[in-house]
Amino acid sequence: MLKVRVTGTGAFLPERCLTNDDLARFVDTSDEWIRSRTGIRKRHLLPEGEPPAGMGVVAARAALAEAGVDHQQVDLLIAATNVPEQPIPGTAPHIVAGLGLPGEPAFMDLKAGCAGFVYGMALAAGAISAGLFRRAVVVGIEALSRFVDWKDRRTCVLFGDGAGAVVLEPSCGEAGILGVSLHGDADKLALLRIEAGGVRLPASEETVKKGLHFLKMEGEGVFRAAVPMMERATREALAQAGLSPKDIDWLIPHQANLRIIRPLAAKLGVPKERVVVNIDRVANTSTASIPIALDELVRAGKLKEGEIVALTAFGAGAAYGTVVLRW
Ligand code: UT7
Repeated sequence: MLKVRVTGTGAFLPERCLTNDDLARFVDTSDEWIRSRTGIRKRHLLPEGEPPAGMGVVAARAALAEAGVDHQQVDLLIAATNVPEQPIPGTAPHIVAGLGLPGEPAFMDLKAGCAGFVYGMALAAGAISAGLFRRAVVVGIEALSRFVDWKDRRTCVLFGDGAGAVVLEPSCGEAGILGVSLHGDADKLALLRIEAGGVRLPASEETVKKGLHFLKMEGEGVFRAAVPMMERATREALAQAGLSPKDIDWLIPHQANLRIIRPLAAKLGVPKERVVVNIDRVANTSTASIPIALDELVRAGKLKEGEIVALTAFGAGAAYGTVVLRW
């Protein structure tokens, strides 16, 4: 099989920041509670009226520039997101239009909860490997601030907005994706949900009045499932690559809660300094969390050629998965 590698990364965070203290001014919470229960100190929010796809455009443009890929050469763009730009069409065409990609490349939205980016990367790599495409851009993009109930302290403190992107291309050397494990436990589909606004319960005056367009979460259920899911997927992806947890140079977990990230790292035996954490600064950016963290690692010059990276995520559905690659 043709090996596929990441040749460029990019990310975007909106300038506007909301600290825990800012939040405590309008919802019954405190910096102490949020920090000790989640590790979050602040989050970036997309200003009202700004189209979210713009974040994906900036992230993808940066990734393409780093890869040195001409826009003409992109033949697939996947936008992983939980809530698209609009019900029809989704986010991907807006990003393609914003980038001005010529040649009418294939594009699609991918919805697999916060695991959407990992799913997107795995599937795009598989498609390149099979010869269907040559160069793909995978974007993780989320503006959940638009769908959280700012009066519900159990959810509104957790999320932030942002986007991240990678360029995937065939690899001639050692670098590339070595193992993939994607799963889902549909028994857990009610744990994280937006009830109205889809075809099951279209938006109406009634649904808005009842707040059914807001994100709802059974926090404890998600919390309990997260570590075993990511541990299983990571062990499987490593095994597929002929590797074991001790070979991981960098673990990049979905940034949902520091109290999820730490036990996962402990179960895999990955030392603290090898676990990428930025939840304190960006909170949970859902599908964008892994590409943003990867981009930060790359731009800080910490990720060295030949190192083994495990990207692992879980989220609504409950979908989860891991991609293991050699940088
Ligand atoms: O991308 C995937 C998305 N989601 C997640 O990964 C979330 C997974 N879950 C979690 O991270 C945790 O379950 C939470 C951070 C959401 C909650 O932490 P917890 O330690 O499980 O708290 P809890 O839900 O058991 O709540 C404990 C108390 C409750 O008060 P009572 O009922 O004991 O009086 C809550 O009402 O803390 C209260 N509480 C808060 N207090 C201050 C809940 N949210 C807040 C808040 N500020 N923001």
